[in-house]
Amino acid sequence: MYIFTKIADLQQFLSSQLGSIGFVPTMGALHIGHLSLIEKSKSETNLTVCSIFVNPTQFNDKKDFDKYPNTIEADIEKLASVDTDVLFLPSVDEMYPNGTEKIKQYEIGYLDTVLDGKFRPGHFNGVCVVVHKLLDAVKPTHLFMGEKDFQQCLVVKRLLEIIKSDIQLITCPTRREPNGLAMSSRNERLSKGGREKASAIHYVLKSIKSEQTKSNFADLESRFVQYLDSNSFETEYILLADANTLELLLDFDPAKKMVVLIASKLEGVRLIDNLRIN
Ligand code: PAF
Repeated sequence: MYIFTKIADLQQFLSSQLGSIGFVPTMGALHIGHLSLIEKSKSETNLTVCSIFVNPTQFNDKKDFDKYPNTIEADIEKLASVDTDVLFLPSVDEMYPNGTEKIKQYEIGYLDTVLDGKFRPGHFNGVCVVVHKLLDAVKPTHLFMGEKDFQQCLVVKRLLEIIKSDIQLITCPTRREPNGLAMSSRNERLSKGGREKASAIHYVLKSIKSEQTKSNFADLESRFVQYLDSNSFETEYILLADANTLELLLDFDPAKKMVVLIASKLEGVRLIDNLRIN
């Protein structure tokens, strides 16, 4: 596996390669979910580039940024174990030579006003800034992202429209722990007991899916917010949305493709998850 920390060196290497390039952007603390994206990329493209960069401009909460897990040595081993071709590991100065204060603003529109757009102001703009910079550096033909970050996938799809890119975005299913907990780098910050407890989020998603024909969504939402919060969670939202547009739905509408999305904090760690329910 080649490791580059400078954009110029990465680009010099890539310019000598033929065929398609698959790109998996990450913030490190890699888990099976990330490795499944690498494997998917390897199966569909000629060369796979993974980036590890904890992007300061997408953290609306400085404490969250400071506490983001850093496991670079283990990450490199994991990437090598699945035969990743290239790791791009830039510094903040390499990605933001003019600093992180004044950043480009993207016309994300509606997607930036709901769910995590509403609860994490500036977050998706920061994601667009860094993904755009990374795409300019790597120039991939295919981009692989995980559906656990459902809204992020739609925002990146919007980014590709804004920048008129023909990069193919491939979204891959969420990988879960045996107890149902969605794999996430943030899980590392949970205690052992917390990881067990956190499986309640997936339980709630599955329960809403199975009860959709018996109850209205508002009743399920208030019941399950109460359920989570009486089990030490602090729930930000449980929402039902159109899976294509993320338009919020007041109640189940089988004529639409629907997704239920949750954001809830446990032990001070903000967890998100989602489930398509039809
Ligand atoms: O999903 C993530 O890990 C990050 O938001 C991403 C896409 C790597 C951008 O920093």
